Amino acid sequence: MTVVPYKDKDSRKREQVAEMFDNISPKYDLLNHLLSGGIDIYWRKRAVRLLRKAQPKKILDIATGTGDFAIEALSLNPDKIIGVDISEGMLAVGREKIQKLGKQDIIELRTGDSESLPFTDNYFDAVIVSFGVRNFENLAAGLRDMYRVLRPEGTCVVVEFSKPRSFPFKQLYSFYFRYILPTIGKAISRDSSAYKYLPESVQAFPDGADFLAIYEKAGFKKTKCIPLTFGICSIYIGQK
Ligand SMILES: C[S@@+](CC[C@H](N)C(=O)[O-])C[C@H]1O[C@@H](n2cnc3c(N)ncnc32)[C@H](O)[C@@H]1O
Repeated sequence: MTVVPYKDKDSRKREQVAEMFDNISPKYDLLNHLLSGGIDIYWRKRAVRLLRKAQPKKILDIATGTGDFAIEALSLNPDKIIGVDISEGMLAVGREKIQKLGKQDIIELRTGDSESLPFTDNYFDAVIVSFGVRNFENLAAGLRDMYRVLRPEGTCVVVEFSKPRSFPFKQLYSFYFRYILPTIGKAISRDSSAYKYLPESVQAFPDGADFLAIYEKAGFKKTKCIPLTFGICSIYIGQK
């Protein structure tokens, strides 16, 4: 069954996800860093480091949101980073951040859906996405289009929440995700569904080997899963 943020609404997952991120966009960065204890910053840095050797010049950041992964990718010294997202609210916050950094010539944020990317085949040297794929309406279709716009030999890096499996991290994580995170998330974002959707969508997401199987089916080769922080988060790397 598809997990959606607003169970009492009839709209499709894509529309509901865009609406939810529009609602929480003013508080998204604050909640992200607060609820993860700032470790999300380390996770993105770690993922970007995997691209250092490849030195990609044209990078696509899918589900860019407020642009944190795109901003982190500036350390690779690329010519261009394009971020796409379906939430105008998230993009507006991101554009402001990029303007403040004076990096608007390098990072460009556009409206775009991962399942029908507005780019020609084989265009990007690297495609990256952090905490986005779990929200796709059709994961396989999203991954296939990411593969399409990546150039041969290009690298794809996906960062996503995963489920820790060992004692006591599994139990601690489950308690935190089910009780503490939704309470703080609701109090600050004023959207009672958004931070219930987060643990539900993580629970339903095919992580680890299950994700690698879908990743490979989309065409990616030399795939690898790198679990981080007791398996709370995982990086999936693949090549075209
Ligand atoms: C949890 S945020 C992650 C934002 C950012 N990448 C980060 O690391 O903070 C997920 C983002 O995915 C976007 N998103 C969800 N489905 C999408 C799709 N089909 N195409 C593009 N963006 C999508 C949402 O609008 C939201 O901004």
